[in-house]
Amino acid sequence: MATNITHHAGITRKERNDLRKQQGFTIWLTGLSASGKSTIAVELERQLLARGLHAYRLDGDNVRFGLNKDLGFSDADRTENIRRIAEVAKLFADSSAIAITSFISPFLADRATARQLHEVPTPNDETGLPFIEVYVDVDIKVAEERDPKGLYKKARAGIIKEFTGINSPYEAPENPEIRIKNDNNLKIEDAAKQIIDYLESKQLLKA
Ligand code: ADX
Repeated sequence: MATNITHHAGITRKERNDLRKQQGFTIWLTGLSASGKSTIAVELERQLLARGLHAYRLDGDNVRFGLNKDLGFSDADRTENIRRIAEVAKLFADSSAIAITSFISPFLADRATARQLHEVPTPNDETGLPFIEVYVDVDIKVAEERDPKGLYKKARAGIIKEFTGINSPYEAPENPEIRIKNDNNLKIEDAAKQIIDYLESKQLLKA
């Protein structure tokens, strides 16, 4: 652990937001594997970019293959996965960008920590950053029927030991800002619109 380190005051968040003409925040998607998190995240990222906003998606492709490639799926590794992702999302949000995270993030306590990291101001962090939790809610039966990667099947067969929803828990959000019921009739544009409408209602899409 590092000692003798101090915060270095620099450009304030307000100054940065004003110059970038955008305010940063994090949209945190959570839900079972095959719930549709990544598909929604991609569509949302595209729609935000099309509005001229800087948005960037963090997901397995750029996190579990890189920064977190040393982590597996034990409870402790998932907690560390989410802790690092929350820190990275916060950096993006602090840079006035919109961070969109798309991870199962199965544990309530880990998501609470991610939220706290954003919302609670630190000495060098005047206001805290908005954290919008989006629960992509799908019945486990529907996720298992979809099973695009064949992982539920492997979990049922005992080949994967700690698979979320089968033999590892998923703790659903109690009070998410947004809940998307992603049964098989939902159009992806409508899911993204539900999030965009929320962001507009909170005036988050302008500096
Ligand atoms: S998390 O629990 O730590 O948030 P994360 O979202 O990064 O999980 O990774 C989940 C993805 O990894 C799943 O969508 C699936 O493709 C794959 N995966 C591989 N093994 C497991 C497992 N044991 N449990 C859940 N997902 C797994």
